[in-house]
Amino acid sequence: MSTKTSPDLQVLFSREQIAERVAELGRQIDQDYAGENIVLLGVLKGAAIFLADLARHITVPNTFDFVAVSSYGKGQKTSGAVKLIKDVDQPIEGKNVIVVEDILDTGLTLDFLKKLFAQHRPRSLRIAALLDKPSRRLVKIDADYVGFSIPNKFVVGYGMDYAERFRNLPDICLMPPDYPE
Ligand code: IMP
Repeated sequence: MSTKTSPDLQVLFSREQIAERVAELGRQIDQDYAGENIVLLGVLKGAAIFLADLARHITVPNTFDFVAVSSYGKGQKTSGAVKLIKDVDQPIEGKNVIVVEDILDTGLTLDFLKKLFAQHRPRSLRIAALLDKPSRRLVKIDADYVGFSIPNKFVVGYGMDYAERFRNLPDICLMPPDYPE
């Protein structure tokens, strides 16, 4: 059976490259949190697949939680406004929290979440972003764990969408700017 599932989109990172890098990030987190417990706090929906894969490379005791925020709407443009749509289920006070996000782009989302979660007084608060687009940053924020740094291109696959489509693509692909909605 063919493994081709993308609609002729150019592959930026193959499933093999992603798997290798995610495993490395998991090993790094394992080392950094040896002897500790962690909460993996995924940002829905884009980070769901990354969190699922990353968690399976982490051996220190961990739990999952998820939050949802308002994002780009349907297309490739941001509205700029960030709103919490779903909060954490379990208190994070006193916990080692790693916010797991698909892309660190303008930084508005993670800046908002970091400030919000800091008010909950976690023991520690770090960010793991699969992709980082440093050239797009509007606020000063960095991730502690980054899968790949990329230029200013819109990507889909491995959880990331264009108007809710293509999240299921196993590879990270480039979305042409003129792609119809
Ligand atoms: P930020 O608030 O601008 O950093 O944006 C973060 C969110 O924008 C990400 O979690 C994604 O949901 C979305 N986003 C940014 N760039 C892309 C992209 O290239 N493809 C798909 N979603 C993106």
